[in-house]
Amino acid sequence: MDGKPMKKMLMVLTTATLSLMLFGCPPKTSETANGAAGTEGEIVIGEYGSLTGAEATFGVSTHNGVMLALDEINGAGGVNGRKIRVITEDDQSKAEEAANAVTKLISQNNVIAVIGEVASSNSLAAAPICNSNKVPMITPSSTNPKVTEVGDYIFRMCFIDPYQGEAMANYLSKQQGMKKAAILIDNKSDYSTGLAQFFERTFLANGGQIVAKASYAKGDSDFRSQLTAIKEKNPEVIFVPGYYNDIGQIAIQARDLGMQQPLAGGDGWESPKLIEIGGKALEGCFYSNHYHVDDPSPAVREFVQKYEERFGAKPDSLAALGYDSTRVLADALKRAGTTDGPKLRDAIAATKGFSGVTGTVNLGPDRNPIGKKLVVLEIKNGQRALKAVVDPMADAAGTTPATDTTATNAGTTATTDSSTSGTAPSTATTRTQ
Ligand code: PHE
Repeated sequence: MDGKPMKKMLMVLTTATLSLMLFGCPPKTSETANGAAGTEGEIVIGEYGSLTGAEATFGVSTHNGVMLALDEINGAGGVNGRKIRVITEDDQSKAEEAANAVTKLISQNNVIAVIGEVASSNSLAAAPICNSNKVPMITPSSTNPKVTEVGDYIFRMCFIDPYQGEAMANYLSKQQGMKKAAILIDNKSDYSTGLAQFFERTFLANGGQIVAKASYAKGDSDFRSQLTAIKEKNPEVIFVPGYYNDIGQIAIQARDLGMQQPLAGGDGWESPKLIEIGGKALEGCFYSNHYHVDDPSPAVREFVQKYEERFGAKPDSLAALGYDSTRVLADALKRAGTTDGPKLRDAIAATKGFSGVTGTVNLGPDRNPIGKKLVVLEIKNGQRALKAVVDPMADAAGTTPATDTTATNAGTTATTDSSTSGTAPSTATTRTQ
C-alpha cells in the first residue's frame, strides 16, 4: 500500500482497526507470528492438540514433550542462529476444531510447519489443510495409515496400525495361546475401526476366531448391552482399540457384569488417567505402546529424568513422541537452511538415522518411519509391566537374535516374551514394517 491512500483511510478508522492494520495482528494477539518465513528472525511453528476434552492427557503430554525439546533447541542457540517459537492451539479433542486450529495457525500465524495431532480422526481433519498450503505437518502419534496418505506434506513419527494390530494379535494368540476373541469398536474413530480390522486379520490368520463384535461411540457412558452380548459368546479376551476414558469405564462395567477375561488394546490406552479411571478392573489387561518408561537405554533414562525434573511426572509415550517430533523438525530445518515449505518438506522426508527417545527415525517413501519398536505392556499391581518387544531394527542389525520358537512365519510380526518386566528384553523379531 502506498502512503497517500493509507493516510486518508486511517482518519476514518477506529483505534482497534488502526492497531490491527499497523501491526498486522488479529485481536487475540501477542502470539502472532511475524518473520516466520524467510531467513531471519524467530521461526514460528504451530502445534494443535487436545489440551482439553475427552482426550486431554494426549494433548497435554504431547505439548510437554514439545516444550522440553524446544527449550533445549533454543538453549543451544536455536536453528541456524534463529530461535524457534511454538504457537499452540487447543482443539478440545474435536475433529472440527482441529481443522479450525490448523487454519488459524496457517492463515493468521503464518506458521512454517505444524505438529499434531494425536487422535487419527483429528489429524485426518487437519492434514488436508496443511497439505494444500504446503505447510509440513508431523503427527507425533496418529497411527491410522490414511493420515500420511493425505499427501506429500504429511509425516509421522510413530508406527502404523497394520503393524500394531498384527503385533497385538500375535502376542495374544502366540504368546498367550488365545483362540477366541471379541472386538469392541468405537465406530466414530478412524483409529479404532482401522486397528480392529488389522487385529482381526492377523488373529484369524493365526487360526483364532472372532466370536463377537460390538460397537460404541466415543463418549458413551453405558457399555452394558454390548458387554452382555459379548459375555454370552465367552471369548478369552476382548480387544478394545479405544481411548483411555472409555476403556476405564468399559473395564469397570465388564467386571460388574462378572466378566473375568482380560481386555486388550492399542496405544490409545496410554494415559496417566487410564488406571486412575479403571483401577483394579484393568488388572491383567494388555496394550501395545511406543515405548516403556522403564526402558534402561540411555536415551530413555535421560529423557525420563529431564521430564520428571520439569513436570513432576513420568512421561508417557505421547510426551516422548512429541519430543522426538520437535527434534526431527528442528533437525530438518537446520539441513534445509530455509523455512520454505517445499524445501523443508524435502528435508523432513530425507530424515534418516535420527536418534530419538522412541528409537531411530528413518523416514520411508510413504513418510512413515521404518522399523519402529513396539512394546506390549500388562497392567499388574496398578503398574505397567513390560511383556514383549517387537523391534525390527534390532533384529535387522542382528544384535538381538530372536529366541522365540513360536515365531516361525517369515515376514510376520512375532512378539517375544520378556522374562523380567521393566528391563530390556533380550529378544527381537523378524518383521520390517
Ligand atoms: N494412535 C492413536 C490414534 O491414532 C493415538 C495415540 C497414540 C494415543 C499414542 C495414545 C498414545 O488415534
